[in-house]
Amino acid sequence: MKKILIVCLGNICRSPTAEAVLKSIVKKRGLDFIVDSAGTIAVHQGKGPDKRSQSAGEKRGYSFAGISSRPVLDNDFAEFDYIFAADRQNKQDLLARCPKQYQNKIALFLEFADVGKSEIPDPYYGGEQGFELVLDLLEEASEKLLDKIGEE
Ligand code: 4NP
Repeated sequence: MKKILIVCLGNICRSPTAEAVLKSIVKKRGLDFIVDSAGTIAVHQGKGPDKRSQSAGEKRGYSFAGISSRPVLDNDFAEFDYIFAADRQNKQDLLARCPKQYQNKIALFLEFADVGKSEIPDPYYGGEQGFELVLDLLEEASEKLLDKIGEE
């Protein structure tokens, strides 16, 4: 069984959406993966996903049940097989605290999935379109990512 962690800044917009999308595809394909998400900051700890992320995601059929914000923990680096960052700053923040022996687990979600882009833009301070873009990117990337990881 493989364990995937997706990380953004607040763990209320991008990474919970990635968690919901990945879990849905994992279920659809009958894969044996565990998917979780976390934030590099703890200020939203315990809160559910941002209402804008949730409503955009639910319209496309994704469930956010049971997802609440938590910060990245030190033992996540040992615990997870893959740790995917939403943007370069998230990746840099992860590498800064990750023990050397686990640093090869960390990658940008979109680069690893090979979708021709590198960062998932932060939708937090923008309009509705930003949340749709996050979903578009995540849907494409999650299918490709699971194709790739499924073969490893
Ligand atoms: P996320 O979005 O990293 O995709 O969850 C954000 C959430 C919270 C903040 C910024 C971005 N914030 O500044 O509190």
